[in-house]
Amino acid sequence: MTKKNSAPGSTFLVTSALPYANGDIHLGHLLEAVQTDVFVRFQKLRGNRAMYVCADDTHGTAIQINAMKRGITPQELVAEIWQRHKSDYAGFNIGFDIFYTTDSPENRFYAELIYKGLRDKRLVEEKEISQYYCETDGRFLPDRFIKGTCPICSAVEQYGDVCEVCGSTYDPTDLKSPVCITCGKPPVLKKTTHLFVKLSERQGFLNTYVKSGALADEVRNFAQSWLSVPLHEWCISRDAPYFGFEIPGMPNKYFYVWLDAPIGYLSSTKKWCDDHGENVEAFWSAKSEAQLVHFIGKDIVYFHTLFWPVMLNSAGFRLPSKIFVHGFLSIGGEKMSKSRGTFILARDFLDKVKHPQATEYLRFYFASKLSGSVNDIDLNVDEFVNRVNTVLSNNIGNFHHRTVVFCERYFKSEVPDAGWEESFAEKVIDQGKAIAEDYSRTDYKSVIERVQELGDLGNKYYQDRKPWELNKTDPAAAAKVMVTCLNLIRSIAVFLKPIVPDIVKKVENLFGCELSWEDHVFSLRSGRLGPTEKLVQPIELEQLDVLRGTSKADSAAAHSVDGKEQGEGVDIAVVKSLDLRVGVVKTAERIEKSQKLLKLTVDIGESTRQIVAGIALSYAPEALMGKQVVIVSNLKSAKVMGVESQGMLLAALDNGSLSIVQPDRPASPGSKVS
Ligand code: 2FM
Ligand code: ZN
Repeated sequence: MTKKNSAPGSTFLVTSALPYANGDIHLGHLLEAVQTDVFVRFQKLRGNRAMYVCADDTHGTAIQINAMKRGITPQELVAEIWQRHKSDYAGFNIGFDIFYTTDSPENRFYAELIYKGLRDKRLVEEKEISQYYCETDGRFLPDRFIKGTCPICSAVEQYGDVCEVCGSTYDPTDLKSPVCITCGKPPVLKKTTHLFVKLSERQGFLNTYVKSGALADEVRNFAQSWLSVPLHEWCISRDAPYFGFEIPGMPNKYFYVWLDAPIGYLSSTKKWCDDHGENVEAFWSAKSEAQLVHFIGKDIVYFHTLFWPVMLNSAGFRLPSKIFVHGFLSIGGEKMSKSRGTFILARDFLDKVKHPQATEYLRFYFASKLSGSVNDIDLNVDEFVNRVNTVLSNNIGNFHHRTVVFCERYFKSEVPDAGWEESFAEKVIDQGKAIAEDYSRTDYKSVIERVQELGDLGNKYYQDRKPWELNKTDPAAAAKVMVTCLNLIRSIAVFLKPIVPDIVKKVENLFGCELSWEDHVFSLRSGRLGPTEKLVQPIELEQLDVLRGTSKADSAAAHSVDGKEQGEGVDIAVVKSLDLRVGVVKTAERIEKSQKLLKLTVDIGESTRQIVAGIALSYAPEALMGKQVVIVSNLKSAKVMGVESQGMLLAALDNGSLSIVQPDRPASPGSKVS
């Protein structure tokens, strides 16, 4: 952690979400790590105190089962993964001040402390519930450890929480023919006591927090919509066997991994402070003047904007000052997928992209796509190559190179004693202010656009002024051009340093100093330059084959996060085998004892079908009358909660709510959909 500026508000504690210790680091993790690392490097460059804290998220059933499958202890597994994670991140210059683990004594201490805080505030309630239990394995089964037949569409081999064929969500107890995924035997229902945090009692506090300025508008809107209804209580306990921390006073009950995961931010800071003789209170006490900044993906906003503030506040800790949220990463317009070879691991990128500056280029490319919004980000290989070659090589690299070569040739690498163009010096100061603001709000795309503009300006100036001719007729004027260009390449290097620190190191070698933020201001008018070195080498499309899905990420399957990708990609024959038809809803009614199911009769021309559809949480029966729908008409009929279903209704699942699929223009009942 660099330590220069000690004014209030100038200390930053910055975190990335803690990666799970049950798989390797992939490009999605790296997107976030680059976003965070650039922010931290910018703060350090500016002279602020900044500390980048991260750790592995080590607990939970998945990790325990993975270890079991490999015949090692969970501790051995997480130690192995920790090494891999550290070296993967290091390959991309991710400059953690500490990369720790949630399976630490510090984390146990704070998990217990925060739990006590929640209890003391009377926010924890004990309740008995019924859960599936596997008598063979002697364990309660989490949703993802039960498979069975979907109660809605009868697809087999579906998890206990959601059907990946029809998208319906349900309780594990709705699943037909459930079996334990470990032993294949049917589970039994068994009573068990769990701990629940009564979040709804802290809704007023959360309402105030989400409006405090910590969240961007679009994220705050999400949070406010969750807060517009009473929040569900949150179950924070799990039954043994579980890899995690046993709950004090509750033998055989463990803290749910999501309770102790964010506490890893705090406990890792504590570890860093202990190792460096600093006081953790300076960062985490309610009175702390440091900025606490989290970077997370949009899938874990709920945890960080609702659960986490309640936990912190209950135990008297400070709240996050900012929570920056990014979107998901896709590759070539597609969700990352193992079967298409686009599930790219950091390690594959390091091993297979044969260009010495490829990791800096990935940082640059990611930065050029990050603008501080939650929109998803697509990694497009052609765009990657184009952007790197156009901006870094042809624009910045070229301007740098021609300036330095000229200085070497005509001025023997001595910075001539001359003035500079005032208009350039002023422009750089203005851009410096704007770029600092861009960095502070994580709009790195804008930083790069501004730098590109400066590069264009420099190239044009050099071209127009023709110093190689000027030198013959008016050497003083040529010297002025040179001093202006040298100052400008230094400003550009300062502006780019958080994004491409290794490339900028070459500029630092040239000027013989470590560049700090103030160095963007024109001040250079003497001194000797170091050896001339090309900043960047262009990259070829073929060098990035690993990103095009032509090279399978071999080890991906071995380190599958959840096995979801297996079996992905179907033959066209499978699609053609479905008989999809337009129908009109004639009747719709609720099914007794089911919150989610409706019984519909649907006219599909030559016949009428009775269909059970899991859309009751999204549609009142009367709202469906007369509506056009699309159904799978050749599905084997099946009984769902004792009611026969002769087909399946298609609906889109969006943020937990279902929306029925309809033809864009009215079509006759029975029309084939293809
Ligand atoms: O979603 C995930 O990958 C979690 N491991 C993130 C945890 S972030 C924090 F809360 F620890
Ligand atoms: Zn289903």
